[in-house]
Amino acid sequence: MEDQAHIRTREKPDVQGDAHPKQLLRTIIEDGDNLLPLEHQHILHADQFSAETLLQLFRLAAKYEANPERFSTPLQGKILVSAFYEPSTRTRLSFESAWHRLGGDIMSITDRSTTGIAKGESLADVGEMFNNYADCVVLRDTRQESLMEMRESLRIPIINAGNGLDEHPTQAMADLYTIFKWRPELIKKSLPKDERVSIGIIGVPDKMRTVRSLLKIFSIFPHAFSHVYLFNEEADEANEELIQSFRDRGLNVVQAGSKFDKHVSNLDVVYINAIAWTGDDFETFGTNFVLNKDTPFKEDAIVLHPLARGHELSTDLDDTRFNWYFAQARGAVFLRMALLTCLVHRKGRVLDVV
Ligand code: CP
Repeated sequence: MEDQAHIRTREKPDVQGDAHPKQLLRTIIEDGDNLLPLEHQHILHADQFSAETLLQLFRLAAKYEANPERFSTPLQGKILVSAFYEPSTRTRLSFESAWHRLGGDIMSITDRSTTGIAKGESLADVGEMFNNYADCVVLRDTRQESLMEMRESLRIPIINAGNGLDEHPTQAMADLYTIFKWRPELIKKSLPKDERVSIGIIGVPDKMRTVRSLLKIFSIFPHAFSHVYLFNEEADEANEELIQSFRDRGLNVVQAGSKFDKHVSNLDVVYINAIAWTGDDFETFGTNFVLNKDTPFKEDAIVLHPLARGHELSTDLDDTRFNWYFAQARGAVFLRMALLTCLVHRKGRVLDVV
């Protein structure tokens, strides 16, 4: 009985931030042709698709999210290989949840030593075998190169679910999907400058794959952001070169070092991450940046975090309106449902259904 009472008190409080998929669904006009570039594609980088294709992907995700019980069979008869060789709570389980929700079957590998890799088998040979067993592969690996090594032999799509320090494209897609649900008007290329949002990212782009992928996907929609402030204490020359590449694409990136306190009250979105995986371990960055209920956020600001969190994101923000990080994680399931549907040629089972 005591346990049940505890479960009831953990229901989502009204003040916590949330996203409204129906508004985004109404804002983006359906155009199935713009989903064609996703069919049978490998998902390697956050900036490999056009704005039009991403918006249609977000629309399909919103369609799933607006009516989660409606679609339970689009992936019936399809098989996913879920290969995660680095710890994961959200990415692995949300991909598997997405595939299950759409009626597909899954083979899951969480330890590479249970495969022929332990006997020296190459990833290209493992990929050759996957062609016979499944319709799609999701891979997270500690090594950046693994993705390309496996891709060599694959004739089915592979999704990069985090390759070392390099990229985490579907995390960035889920992050932007959350931002567009929060402010659907940001999708408009003609948005007046004073209606664009100012975002602060606490993180290190050349060491954190989530931050690098986030900046890459932002650079496809530079008109949505008045400023992208980067806060970290680790800026170096490699970082500057990377930042310049985003500026060249029209993103107004400002290196603001440790001056978060100076800017926070003007930021519409605060995105924070503190850890980066390196091999079989992780490093922590920005230990002086901590968000909590005393942080002087703008009245209607939102806080995003790819999670897992450390002490940089206090749990005392969980029950506040600033908390959009749980909605961000929840929305990732629908974003991944949409992506998987398109990759394995099953969008036809969904698009015409109202
Ligand atoms: N956001 C994210 O990549 O979380 P996991 O490491 O739990 O997959």
